[in-house]
Amino acid sequence: MTPEEALAAAERNHRPVLCDEVIAALAPETGDLFIDGTFGAGGYSRAILAAAECRVIGVDRDPEALAEARPWASVYGERLRLVETVFGDLDTVPDADEQVTGVVLDIGVSSMQLDRAGRGFSFLRDGALDMRMGQDGPSAADLVNTAEEAVLGDILFQYGEERRARALARAIIAARTKTPIRTTAELSQIVEAASPAKKPGQAHPATRTFQALRIAVNDELGELVRGLAAAERVLVPGGRLVVVTFHSLEDRIVKRFLKSRSERGGAGVSRHAPGPLAGPEPSFETLTRKPIEAGEAELATNPRARSARLRAGRRTSAPALPFEARGLGLPGLALEGLAS
Ligand SMILES: C[S@@+](CC[C@H](N)C(=O)[O-])C[C@H]1O[C@@H](n2cnc3c(N)ncnc32)[C@H](O)[C@@H]1O
Repeated sequence: MTPEEALAAAERNHRPVLCDEVIAALAPETGDLFIDGTFGAGGYSRAILAAAECRVIGVDRDPEALAEARPWASVYGERLRLVETVFGDLDTVPDADEQVTGVVLDIGVSSMQLDRAGRGFSFLRDGALDMRMGQDGPSAADLVNTAEEAVLGDILFQYGEERRARALARAIIAARTKTPIRTTAELSQIVEAASPAKKPGQAHPATRTFQALRIAVNDELGELVRGLAAAERVLVPGGRLVVVTFHSLEDRIVKRFLKSRSERGGAGVSRHAPGPLAGPEPSFETLTRKPIEAGEAELATNPRARSARLRAGRRTSAPALPFEARGLGLPGLALEGLAS
């Protein structure tokens, strides 16, 4: 297959969620430079490159995602650069003389990651209980086999919003005491056995457990907070930040970040402080008062779009505010019990 054929195949096979809305919010123009912090199958990057004579740095922590793109990425020559790192460090990616005019983040797991049994993300496919998007740090198996019961319960409750978190944590500890939990099927069966029978139309009982472990293993909410702050540091005045999220924990963080950055005094300074200049200058102007959601046509062809929310902001010329995770809605977890 030629690079051009590989590019055409990638175009046919993958249309990312809210793609038109992302491009409208980024508003690419000739000479712009974008960072796509969650490159995945490259859908947003290709759409940006098609929209204007601009450049993209595609960032992903998953080397398999970048490897999939290499057969077609060369078609763009110097317009597309691929970098393996976390988006929490995205401000370290451009060269010192490069001006970043837009950052896009599409938070969560990719369909490629979900579909490959060996990655361990899905209870629908039996494989090693891994769930790491990158290649380092403890896996989900390390976590479920070593974390203290209270820590496990907190993870399921906070990251999975699982109401039966304590009971499920107890069941996991009871099972691992007999034999270590190594596969997605083993974990899924333990959760299923400890849950009430599933009613028609209800999600699989392990859905929230798998979501919670994935978020913990990849420190997804911590990464999101660091990514937002890195975008604030790297964007030029007028540059755009566009974030697509898929559940309320993530959306709340993005909403609070943009709100705190777009109000004078929003970032920790009392509104009631005296004087018209109280508080730091806003570093963003919000472009989405309400989150943008998928329209009927997209929902009809892509059920995953149902929970997608897009929020966007435009960078002002004010300096970036000091990094501060407090107040953004990051659940407080005592994670000392995690394997390291
Ligand atoms: C939902 S997919 C992105 C899909 C992409 N927008 C597209 O059009 O194909 C999310 C991707 O982000 C990557 N990812 C998630 N968290 C990351 C992080 N903190 N740093 C870098 N990449 C991350 C995942 O490995 C995955 O490939």
